[in-house]
Amino acid sequence: MENYGINGHQQLFDYITEYRNKGLKYDLKKKLFGQQVAAKVILKAVTGFMNNINPKKPLVLSLHGWTGTGKNFASQLIAENIYQKGMTSNFVHLFTATAHFPHEAHINKYKTQLLEWIRGNVSICPRSMFIFDEMDKMHPGLIDSIKPYLDFYNNLDGVSYRQAIFIFLSNAGGEKIVQVALDFWKLGKERFQIHLKHLETALSLSVFNNKNSGLWHTSLIDKNLVDYFVPFLPLEYKHIIQCGWSEMARKGHVPNKKVVIKMARDLNYFPKEERVFSLQGCKTISSRLDFYI
Ligand SMILES: Nc1ncnc2c1ncn2[C@@H]1O[C@H](COP(=O)(O)OP(=O)(O)OP(=O)(O)O)[C@@H](O)[C@H]1O
Ligand SMILES: [Mg+2]
Repeated sequence: MENYGINGHQQLFDYITEYRNKGLKYDLKKKLFGQQVAAKVILKAVTGFMNNINPKKPLVLSLHGWTGTGKNFASQLIAENIYQKGMTSNFVHLFTATAHFPHEAHINKYKTQLLEWIRGNVSICPRSMFIFDEMDKMHPGLIDSIKPYLDFYNNLDGVSYRQAIFIFLSNAGGEKIVQVALDFWKLGKERFQIHLKHLETALSLSVFNNKNSGLWHTSLIDKNLVDYFVPFLPLEYKHIIQCGWSEMARKGHVPNKKVVIKMARDLNYFPKEERVFSLQGCKTISSRLDFYI
């Protein structure tokens, strides 16, 4: 862990920016494509929490959905509107289950390290953010061990976790979300007509019912420690075009319609016949574009 020295606090404030409510709203609207349901929940949850000077518990968000639909990307947008340095801030911590906690045999070591890491960092900066990627691949025992931090405690061993933000990312429930989106499409309804209420039940049930999911094994859910379940919809062709367009610009090219269309058409979609939803979302676009440029 980094040593902030005598001027630690001074340094601390250099890193944290004022929460940019308008910035987050703008980013979610302009940069995150096709996720109107997730955008709305995230904005409401984060703004409510950041404006609350005395939250009773840390903010816990659980982001769910098909691959490449923007879960990591949305976490990045949240981080960028809270911390000047965004994901590279010293106060943002990203854990990936398979990379950081790969061996079940070492679970006790991971537990100690993880708890120490969270405690140490929150005592330096109460407004710390912890992102757990591949939450569905995380050992249930490890999830269980962080539970006290997510709960309504004044403080634990002299450290208060109430200003902290925990974000869980997983594909759990992704198939159920896809099913809802497919049903809407089959009925000829528009995507914007899909609201949280259509996805909420499917999501919570599938997370519960999936016995392979670490989330299911723990009491994270029945103890109501997760404040918001955030569903990410599968992306359509038009969103792939949007991703391609912004990715080309990000790579320093003048976005080219022909190139983006060619790239988007070559991707795989499902159902096979109708080609409605992108199989890999926007995930492979960055590397694929290099082939077409
Ligand atoms: N909805 C979206 N709007 C804009 N860009 C997106 C969106 N979804 C994905 N992308 C782009 O694709 C990249 C990969 O997406 P991301 O890593 O956020 O997917 P994910 O949902 O976390 O997928 P996985 O479940 O496989 O981890 C992002 O960095 C971003 O550039
Ligand atoms: Mg991801």
